[in-house]
Amino acid sequence: EADLESRLPLKGRKILITAGPTYEAIDPVRFIGNHSSGKMGFDIASSAANLGASVLLVTGPTHCKATHPLIRVIPVVSAQEMYDACHLYYADVDVAIAAAAVADYKPKNVASQKIKKNADDFTIELEKTKDILASLGQSKKNQFLIGFALETENEIENAKLKIQKKNLDLIVLNSLQDKGAGFGKATNKVTFIDKFFTIEAMELKSKEAVADDILNKVIAHFYEMS
Ligand code: CTP
Ligand code: CA
Repeated sequence: EADLESRLPLKGRKILITAGPTYEAIDPVRFIGNHSSGKMGFDIASSAANLGASVLLVTGPTHCKATHPLIRVIPVVSAQEMYDACHLYYADVDVAIAAAAVADYKPKNVASQKIKKNADDFTIELEKTKDILASLGQSKKNQFLIGFALETENEIENAKLKIQKKNLDLIVLNSLQDKGAGFGKATNKVTFIDKFFTIEAMELKSKEAVADDILNKVIAHFYEMS
């Protein structure tokens, strides 16, 4: 049994992960979206499942596939659908990791018919989507809550503010400074900042390796609790 515990250190743990972009409808045939591939979230899900965790993977539209039997994929489209799915499962999980690139704004009104090009110019009024991660932070009981931060200036300061605003235990700061990192790439350069503001800058590495690093933080958390 000790052997199983060392090989599958997250056996019996439930982990909720968000991945991919969200699509916010403009009319029946158009949407506002972003270039998130979903790969980071799917790699985190694979790492977690390989360590024995039961994974709920709430994902926006993506070409990524999950094959591990311990991963249950819950496909969603919009930020509101992702919000609803996350809150449906959150009370029951031990860990939540928000890797999705959720749209910050959505059209205020969704046209019920395809919009015709009648006018010379056209304006879409937008309103904020719900902050899924912040809402998970607000309803947090014992969950270990991990978020991402994408910043282009004052990276560390802004990431620290996000830890506080969203009541996180750990934030994974994505450095866009590095040419090899980020959207559509196979690699990422991240910095971990925990709720005590301990900072750990990692090397540029594959998203699979970044995922393993994140799960090592989760394992360390459970080790500290025991
Ligand atoms: N996030 C979320 N719901 C949203 C927006 C963001 O759950 N509506 C989560 C992301 O999944 C990520 C974290 O919040 O884990 C930070 O996302 P980011 O875009 O860096 O920050 P925002 O809070 O959206 O603020 P801003 O874009 O203004 O920097
Ligand atoms: Ca954002």
